[in-house]
Amino acid sequence: MTILVCGGAGYIGSHTVKVLTSEYDVVILDNLTTGYPFLLNDKASFEKGDLGDPAVLDRIFKKHNIDAVFHFAANSLVGESVQNPLKYYKNNVSATITLLDKMVEYGVNKFIFSSTAATYGIPDTDLITEDTATNPINPYGKSKLMIEDILSDVSDVHNLEYVVLRYFNAAGAHESAEIGESHDPETHLIPIVLQHLLGERKQISVFGTDYDTPDGTCVRDYIHVTDLANAHILAYEGLVNKEVANEVFNLGNGAGYSVKEIIEVCEKVSGKSAVIEYADRRTGDPATLVASSKKIEEKLGWKPQFDLEEIIGSAWRWHSKETK
Ligand code: UFG
Repeated sequence: MTILVCGGAGYIGSHTVKVLTSEYDVVILDNLTTGYPFLLNDKASFEKGDLGDPAVLDRIFKKHNIDAVFHFAANSLVGESVQNPLKYYKNNVSATITLLDKMVEYGVNKFIFSSTAATYGIPDTDLITEDTATNPINPYGKSKLMIEDILSDVSDVHNLEYVVLRYFNAAGAHESAEIGESHDPETHLIPIVLQHLLGERKQISVFGTDYDTPDGTCVRDYIHVTDLANAHILAYEGLVNKEVANEVFNLGNGAGYSVKEIIEVCEKVSGKSAVIEYADRRTGDPATLVASSKKIEEKLGWKPQFDLEEIIGSAWRWHSKETK
């Protein structure tokens, strides 16, 4: 079995490749615009190129006998998507249509798609299920929901079976500390706090203290990147074994932590104190996003293995090693 991992050099893609290669052969397709050095081994080969380039996909589908595609390659910054919507519709929607077109042409019929909690917008419930209404409030979330709709339509008429995974807040690093979370620019809370605690940033800003949450700061559901990686493999095997097809699943820990709580756990794990600036709200941040992942637990037996302290501990070990 050979799996094409689009965006396999990026944060979640590279962690999934690491888990996948214990069992499967992998071809990584990445243009390395946001990906960073990743680990190749004798079960992973690399193709540099753009997902939206049909010639690149022709080359890959002719050269390798691909059984399934995992699709991580996307731009994923909410703020940037508001400023530059065409970038998101081009890279996240148009390029994915090219990929699906080529999958249909070459008869590759299994697809695992990385979607997001941003598809829910500002939900009217504290525990989000897959039945919660989708109402994205930014081009990033809309671009992911568009592909979800396209997948549904395509699978009605073509031999394509898919699983959509809506991630909540991915965080943490592989237990080996060989790979971890790194974006440029970094906008995510946990890496920013850890970089600050390592002396790489002067202070951290807490965006908003007047939300309707227990301590006034935003509440999110943080999930270890290895738990996400494992969910992809279960989803793929679920497709192969005909346990699931054309389904959407949430992926979160089911527990919400505020920005203040995250900073406290980072301080505890690192043994250092943070310098905090309390700032205005960041545009587009919902107060609370917490997932019910009951559906994937019931249908695929997935359960998160890592709690918040383990997530932050793994991220700390990787960041500490990187700054040595
Ligand atoms: N935050 C701060 N200070 C910072 C950075 C973040 O207070 O320096 C706050 C944010 O305002 C937010 C929380 O920390 O309340 C988490 O922010 P992140 O940027 O780490 O994550 P988001 O919840 O904004 O984004 C994540 C994914 C997106 C996805 C979104 C769904 O990274 O891809 O969830 O809402 F779209």
